[in-house]
Amino acid sequence: MFAGPVEFLKGVVAMSGLPDADRLEVCFAGRSNVGKSSLINAITGRKAIARASNTPGRTQEINFFTLGESHYLVDLPGYGYANAPLAKVEAWQRLLKQYLSGRPNLRRAFVLIDARHGIKDVDEEIMSLLDSSAVTFQCVLTKVDKLKAGERDKVLDQVRGKLAKHPAAFPELIVTSSEKGEGIATLRAVIATLE
Ligand code: GTP
Ligand code: MG
Repeated sequence: MFAGPVEFLKGVVAMSGLPDADRLEVCFAGRSNVGKSSLINAITGRKAIARASNTPGRTQEINFFTLGESHYLVDLPGYGYANAPLAKVEAWQRLLKQYLSGRPNLRRAFVLIDARHGIKDVDEEIMSLLDSSAVTFQCVLTKVDKLKAGERDKVLDQVRGKLAKHPAAFPELIVTSSEKGEGIATLRAVIATLE
């Protein structure tokens, strides 16, 4: 589906470090520990191309990966990590805002939502930022393997209800488990069809 290798390109801490906007780009946003790096690993079929970890706040830079010859995948720093120093949080937020509002090749943001928790206030904040930046975003539920039978419909309802209020939200949800592989092919297919 994607010709060519998947490679880590670079980690970026300032707008000046962004690679040229010469490929289609998708980014992965979400609360700290929601499973962004794990999802990127699952999509690329590489076990540890993006560093996944139990320690929240692990990914502190904007990490760029090449997917085939046509796409960048972007792993964003997690937000909503209560124990991070305030100055650091503010620096991330600034960079995140600049990135989301100033990237011409960004085709879609995937906003990851932990299936056990649903959409929280910090998620609403990033969604509002995406609305105002006119970046189409699509919600990806993560870690569905951790849901008990019958919990799925409840969280899907909550997420759909909240998304209805966001003009930049793409209505279709993607339900995933990086652990079990559920939804990964769907997500790859969505990325492949973006133009
Ligand atoms: P930050 O970089 O800190 O923002 O975290 P992240 O969003 O990149 O999360 P990461 O991928 O590092 O995953 C956090 C933890 O959740 C790790 O212990 C993963 O193994 C676990 N995890 C991620 N995806 C899944 C999943 O689909 N199922 C289960 N059961 N665990 C998962
Ligand atoms: Mg990470």
